[in-house]
Amino acid sequence: MPLLRLLPAERAHHVTLALLKAGLVPSARVVADPILATRQWGLDFPNPLGLAAGFDKNGEVPDAMLRLGFGFAEIGSVTPLPQPGNPKPRLFRLAEDKAVINRMGFNNRGLDFAAARLAARRPGGIVGANLGKNKDSADAIADYAAGIARLGPLADYLVINISSPNTPGLRALQGRAPLRALVDGVADALAGLLEKKPLLLKIAPDLTVEDRADIAAIALDSPLAGLIVSNTTVERPKSLKSPLAGETGGLSGQPLFAPSTAVLAEMYRLTGGKLPLIGVGGIGSAEQAYAKIRAGASLLQLYSALVFSGPGLVGEINRGLAALLRRDGFASIGQAVGADHRR
Ligand SMILES: Cc1cc2nc3c(=O)[nH]c(=O)nc-3n(C[C@H](O)[C@H](O)[C@H](O)COP(=O)(O)O)c2cc1C
Repeated sequence: MPLLRLLPAERAHHVTLALLKAGLVPSARVVADPILATRQWGLDFPNPLGLAAGFDKNGEVPDAMLRLGFGFAEIGSVTPLPQPGNPKPRLFRLAEDKAVINRMGFNNRGLDFAAARLAARRPGGIVGANLGKNKDSADAIADYAAGIARLGPLADYLVINISSPNTPGLRALQGRAPLRALVDGVADALAGLLEKKPLLLKIAPDLTVEDRADIAAIALDSPLAGLIVSNTTVERPKSLKSPLAGETGGLSGQPLFAPSTAVLAEMYRLTGGKLPLIGVGGIGSAEQAYAKIRAGASLLQLYSALVFSGPGLVGEINRGLAALLRRDGFASIGQAVGADHRR
């Protein structure tokens, strides 16, 4: 970990992936505490903490990440065709702020490559596929439909990501009319899967009150099985200390915790707790994981905190979360979901 931090951020990421692929990262003693086990969409999650999208864009190391103790792993974002992403540098560590800024721009090897990786896996463990659109594609709906058709049979759940700030125009798909068209447009692809798979929508933290209400209303009246809240933010809180704070891109890590948790709580309220939510953004401790659950998350994800704390964090959060649930008299994750709304 300390050695990796001496490398530029994207190099360090490539080295990490290479170590994981080579099996050189020791497996953790996975926390297997029944209080953490949770069932969603007919899937049995051993614990609620997943790996967020963007770490394993091509589906090369989902099993290595599950062995580190994650309850599930999300690959992607995968676009139909391979694409290089934005010019480097495009990934920045804001060490003083325990934050990351990225403007990767969906660099990935495309659906065929990811499909081959998923097909080569031995069954077991929950792996989701996060789908994007190609930068120069004129038909976003066709791109997402292609992703659903290609990776749907190979993944345990699917995510439509319309909230990356690094693909021009993508976030506009979150507006009422385009979102309705998108959700209706991919319904056929989803219905065409031989086995039914849950389809989730991943949203930005930077939405207006109106956007949030529209998304909730559409989600409740659609084949969507849940929401992921949230992606990175284009806001730059005044509290940021790092000289890199002015870099263009999406900000993640500690400064995203409060705003993403506020949007999570709001989406829980707007959907009346009827739609499972995955809480993501700035989780770096068991207390923060627990706060997301109480705000309305049924499942959790993280990415940026791994950069600063290393893989031991996964077990630490899971052990701490189990202790917090017991302290407050909850017998399961499910009992604690949305608890803050019932006080
Ligand atoms: C380098 C990097 C790349 C990312 N790439 C993607 C992506 O391809 N698709 C996506 O949906 N989210 C992507 N994300 C967003 C994360 O999945 C997550 O929503 C966000 O970072 C907030 O969580 P965190 O604060 O725990 O990192 C990326 C994040 C980072 C830091």
